[in-house]
Amino acid sequence: MIKDNLEKIRQDAVKKMMESETMEALNEIRVAYLGKKGELTNLLKSMKDVDPKDRPTVGKLVNEAREELEKHLSEAQARLAMEKRRLQLESEVIDVTLPAKKSVVGHPHPNRVALDEVERIFVGMGYEVVEGPEIEYDYYNFEALNIPANHPAKDEQDTFYITKDILLRTQTSPVQVRTMEKKKPPIRVISPGRVFRSDEVDATHSPSFHQIEGMVIDKGITFADLKGTLQQFAKEMFGEDTRVKFRPHHFPFTEPSAEMDVSCFKCGGKGCRFCKNEGWIEILGCGMVHPKVLRMSGIDPEIYSGFAFGIGLERIALLKYEIDDMRLLYENDIRFLRQF
Ligand code: DAH
Repeated sequence: MIKDNLEKIRQDAVKKMMESETMEALNEIRVAYLGKKGELTNLLKSMKDVDPKDRPTVGKLVNEAREELEKHLSEAQARLAMEKRRLQLESEVIDVTLPAKKSVVGHPHPNRVALDEVERIFVGMGYEVVEGPEIEYDYYNFEALNIPANHPAKDEQDTFYITKDILLRTQTSPVQVRTMEKKKPPIRVISPGRVFRSDEVDATHSPSFHQIEGMVIDKGITFADLKGTLQQFAKEMFGEDTRVKFRPHHFPFTEPSAEMDVSCFKCGGKGCRFCKNEGWIEILGCGMVHPKVLRMSGIDPEIYSGFAFGIGLERIALLKYEIDDMRLLYENDIRFLRQF
């Protein structure tokens, strides 16, 4: 009786172990047969009902069955562990023959390339690069630069005001004042940065663009220093053959003031589509720093003098790379940027 039972338990358990598909299922089978309340254990407990003379034989059989089940159990465990490893390897396989993804490398913007060049030239002449805030006081943007309250530039149509006294700077010239307040002459600085004007977007205008301000203050600085410096800059920037021309102009913060043209580097000055047949292209405003501006910034105009200039960065980038629409500089179309 007990022998039949034993045989049935053994066969069932072996079959289940061999068919088990997960470790969890296998563990449940182990508990069901070999555990403390498992079937085989229960069978051992019923030994007391066996005729004493048969007990050694039956006991031996039960022990053999236990050993056999344990052997099957460890075999099934090994089989499942191998299967798990195989699935893992299969899911992690890497096809080393697949073509690699191309990584896109960034590209310097034409503005950046042009600015690097301008900075290189002026740093080479002993200038320091300084920066000022884009959100500026009316005082620095206008008043300290001798721009009177009724000046058209102060009109709300041209300037983005944040409050009555705070605005988005319309030029980099306020950095002149901030620099003079901080440093003692001799001063030689350039200051590149973003400026804002309430302009409609078109091929030559944008509400936000960049300027590079320059300023030199020392004893005995004259207009000849200004001309020599800016001529040297033009030659290094646009080529050794470049000629420059100064036209009288008016800026409230310089006296005298001028605009500087460079000979067209496309046609050499003969006149072409590029320079609108004029042979010359305007690239900057400049002048001798107004004595009033010096005084307001804490520098004695009886002792010191200086010159200043303001270059339109986009203007230079457009000219240098022969780009005919300023909007291209702001769209950041990678196909366009990659060309420079
Ligand atoms: N700030 C002027 C502008 O935005 C440019 C300029 C002209 C700057 C003459 C200067 C200067 O420093 O001396 O039009």
